[in-house]
Amino acid sequence: MKTSFFTFITFTSALLCSTFPLSLSQRCNVKDQITLLRIKNSLGNPSVLSSWTSTSDCCNWRCVECDLYNDRIKSLTIYSGNISATIPDTLGNLPYLETLILRKLTNLTGQIPPAITKLSHLKTLAISWTNLSGPIPSFLSQLTSLTTLDLSYNNFSGSIPPELATLPNLESLHLDRNALIGPIPESFGNFTGKVPAIYLSHNLLSGTIPISMAQVNFTRLDLSRNKLQGDLSVFFGTNKTIETADFSRNMFEFNFSTLNEFPSSLSVLDLNHNSIYGSLPETLIGLELQSLNVSYNRLCGEIPVGGRLQNYDNTAYFHNRCLCGFPLPACF
Ligand SMILES: *[C@@H]1O[C@H](CO)[C@@H](O)[C@H](O)[C@H]1NC(C)=O
Ligand SMILES: *[C@@H]1O[C@H](CO)[C@@H](O)[C@H](O)[C@H]1NC(C)=O
Ligand SMILES: *[C@@H]1O[C@H](CO)[C@@H](O)[C@H](O)[C@H]1NC(C)=O
Ligand SMILES: *[C@@H]1O[C@H](CO)[C@@H](O)[C@H](O)[C@H]1NC(C)=O
Ligand SMILES: *[C@@H]1O[C@H](CO)[C@@H](O)[C@H](O)[C@H]1NC(C)=O
Ligand SMILES: *[C@@H]1O[C@H](CO)[C@@H](O)[C@H](O)[C@H]1NC(C)=O
Ligand SMILES: *[C@@H]1O[C@H](CO)[C@@H](O)[C@H](O)[C@H]1NC(C)=O
Ligand SMILES: *[C@@H]1O[C@H](CO)[C@@H](O)[C@H](O)[C@H]1NC(C)=O
Ligand SMILES: *[C@@H]1O[C@H](CO)[C@@H](O)[C@H](O)[C@H]1NC(C)=O
Repeated sequence: MKTSFFTFITFTSALLCSTFPLSLSQRCNVKDQITLLRIKNSLGNPSVLSSWTSTSDCCNWRCVECDLYNDRIKSLTIYSGNISATIPDTLGNLPYLETLILRKLTNLTGQIPPAITKLSHLKTLAISWTNLSGPIPSFLSQLTSLTTLDLSYNNFSGSIPPELATLPNLESLHLDRNALIGPIPESFGNFTGKVPAIYLSHNLLSGTIPISMAQVNFTRLDLSRNKLQGDLSVFFGTNKTIETADFSRNMFEFNFSTLNEFPSSLSVLDLNHNSIYGSLPETLIGLELQSLNVSYNRLCGEIPVGGRLQNYDNTAYFHNRCLCGFPLPACF
């Protein structure tokens, strides 16, 4: 009795094994499983993907996540690992992917492959702290579901593709810490959907800020550590909504006295290391600034007294031509 039951079980599972690649309880979609195994192979079978084996359910593998409703792979996230490879085209064959994060993979090289445009559900694309190079491809604008595009800390070169401004759902754009050149595109005054937070610091961007950007209500901008020139008037004025603005370490050169209307939303303003001249406008007194830094410019005159302007330490104001008054030494 006992023996025949055992035989029955063995027989049944042998039958199942010959019919299905895995046990009946497998959630993972077989196409996704095959694709992932190919990706693993293209990435040189790195140890970070050792749980990816043909005999286990891919919904249980590390670095991936299946959708609860259709059991398709919706997220692929590799935060670190010893991967010496390029991004394989096969990655384009995960049609339900919403999140793709490749991070801290310093031996991941090459360019972003066009196959990535097949990922039409992609909401988060983050390839950062890798060693990707070449241009930032304009075809990324075909990924219209994107809310986050993060290509920071890489070796991308060339200019910023104007087409990125057509991404209708973009909430944040991180292109900081690359080797990007050229101006900020005119189209950045033309975001057709949401206006994303924009991070472009630590590049080689040059030229003046496009006037078109005056039409857009930005909230967060980090343009620091570039070679940008001209003035910043397009971002200020009482009808604007800017909150956090870092324009430090550029070549901006304008008379600060002529900028006298600031949006009440402004909370962080960093202008250090530019060539800004004139004096600090009295209207700064009316702002609830969490932080202000105008150090290393060519400003002169007395720091207006009032509001929060005396709350910052002297380093917020030092290294100017002839700025004076508390917290700097008194004027004469
Ligand atoms: C990167 O590749 C080099 C040369 O093959 C190797 O020595 C190094 O260990 C790799 N590092 C990582 C983090 O992948
Ligand atoms: C990365 O992998 C390569 C080759 O597989 C190996 O030589 C190297 O020691 C590894 N580096 C690290 C940091 O694990
Ligand atoms: C990035 O790749 C370049 C060659 O393309 C290489 O010289 C450099 O060492 C790599 N950097 C890192 C951090 O792996
Ligand atoms: C970035 O790419 C350039 C060539 O485009 C190369 O000379 C340089 O070594 C790379 N830098 C890093 C940090 O990999
Ligand atoms: C801005 O958008 C308008 C209308 O969609 C379009 O005609 C124009 O070419 C765009 N300008 C830029 C610089 O992208
Ligand atoms: C602010 O007002 C100016 C002049 O009235 C106008 O040109 C600009 O488009 C407005 N900006 C925003 C973001 O509404
Ligand atoms: C920008 O925000 C202001 C309110 O601060 C609003 O009046 C204006 O219409 C907005 N402009 C755009 C282009 O959305
Ligand atoms: C800056 O602008 C103010 C107000 O228009 C003017 O009085 C001042 O002379 C200007 N300063 C410089 C250095 O051009
Ligand atoms: C202002 O910026 C300068 C230059 O980066 C820095 O040394 C200083 O600590 C900053 N001060 C404040 C209050 O942010």
